[in-house]
Amino acid sequence: MNILLIGSGGREHALAWKVAQSYHCDHLYIAPGNPGTAAIGTNLPISIDDFEGLKQAAIAHQIDMMIVGPEEPLVKGIFDFFANDPATQAINVIGPSAAAAQLEGSKAFSKHFMQRHQIPTAGYAEFTIDNYEQGRQYIAAHSLPIVLKADGLAAGKGVIIATTHQEALESFESMLQHKQFGTASARVVIEEFLTGIEVSVFALTDGKNYQIIGHAKDYKRIGEGDTGLNTGGMGCVSPVPFMDEAFMAKVEEKIVRPTIGGISKEGLAYKGFVFFGLMNCDGEPSVIEYNCRLGDPETEVILPRLQTDLVSILAATDNGTLEDVNIEYNEGAFATVMAVSGGYPGDYQKGFPINGLDLIPQNQKTTLFQAGTGFKDDSIVTNGGRVLTITAQGNTITEAVETAKNALNMIQFEGMNFRKDIGYEFKG
Ligand code: AMP
Ligand code: GLY
Repeated sequence: MNILLIGSGGREHALAWKVAQSYHCDHLYIAPGNPGTAAIGTNLPISIDDFEGLKQAAIAHQIDMMIVGPEEPLVKGIFDFFANDPATQAINVIGPSAAAAQLEGSKAFSKHFMQRHQIPTAGYAEFTIDNYEQGRQYIAAHSLPIVLKADGLAAGKGVIIATTHQEALESFESMLQHKQFGTASARVVIEEFLTGIEVSVFALTDGKNYQIIGHAKDYKRIGEGDTGLNTGGMGCVSPVPFMDEAFMAKVEEKIVRPTIGGISKEGLAYKGFVFFGLMNCDGEPSVIEYNCRLGDPETEVILPRLQTDLVSILAATDNGTLEDVNIEYNEGAFATVMAVSGGYPGDYQKGFPINGLDLIPQNQKTTLFQAGTGFKDDSIVTNGGRVLTITAQGNTITEAVETAKNALNMIQFEGMNFRKDIGYEFKG
């Protein structure tokens, strides 16, 4: 079949890499893609929110399946746009409808959903400018730390963890009075702080059935030892040693099953990935957030670990056979280590040449995925904060991380930085 993949990050390079391995894939197009995906399929210069352009390309290239990588087009309704048009409605679009994508697009929606289906999550309240004073009182009486979340999409920046009431009140004022995140912060969710270890679980659903396709631990802080500012993710490991059968059984029983059951009962059209952002609180999983897509860089470890043909699993969402698919994993431990631009997650420059890309062996042990890269004439240059990632496989997490770091040491670009301690708590 002909497949169109939407997006341009490391997640999409990893998706392209996995999709292209499938015997079901005849031709792969990526819109807009990056230099990494250009080496696997055909990049199309169409932006992720140009629905009309994507539709025309889908028709012209006789697309059978469209995989949507990032959340933005999903929340804006790309699934519905394709489903409601006779010219594109036969295409198997992998992604939720706009209604279902609110699980990621609105924190208040996802909190209500979890309450309705008794899914464990932090206690909360929500406020708008209409009950602003009540919100101030709620904050003043709340234990610390306290978590403030802009309701809508805020490019990963809409969550504030305040350690004093003063700081919380100031953020509350910026969000509601000064529209710090525009319309995304017209509603604010105030949440109890959960203590524990954060992990991610990934499932694929057809809106009724599901399969878990992997899990990972993401290292979000820029600095070693989990210090400094939050980033989109500096590296991941999978499998996570404490996410054993007993823990995953709890995740499935208390979180995954009731979530998919809720989607089904509420009649939300959802054919795609569900990303469960969880906190492991002393062995008890609790939901921090839902995302309606795969994670980045989680995808870069879960797909190399996944042995089963991805296109077969995706195709099963369209014909009621998802439950029959056999999910198998490759042996060993997987790690991905992200190389970022100097200054990231603050300001950084782009356009620096990247040397050494051709020195990285592409085999079962090491894979390079490009994220924020671009072409300048014929050479590949930096074009974003998170530039590229190396995924490696090893007998242990430590071995996998060492292999990834050794490969990264063969690459240079001005200002390049990566965390040397990914997986530090799982040494051995
Ligand atoms: P989100 O945008 O919902 O992923 O939140 C960003 C980050 O804030 C999460 O990845 C967590 O590290 C942290 N976070 C969000 N909610 C909570 C919470 N209730 N308790 C502790 N940390 C949280
Ligand atoms: N790595 C976290 C995310 O993709 O949201």
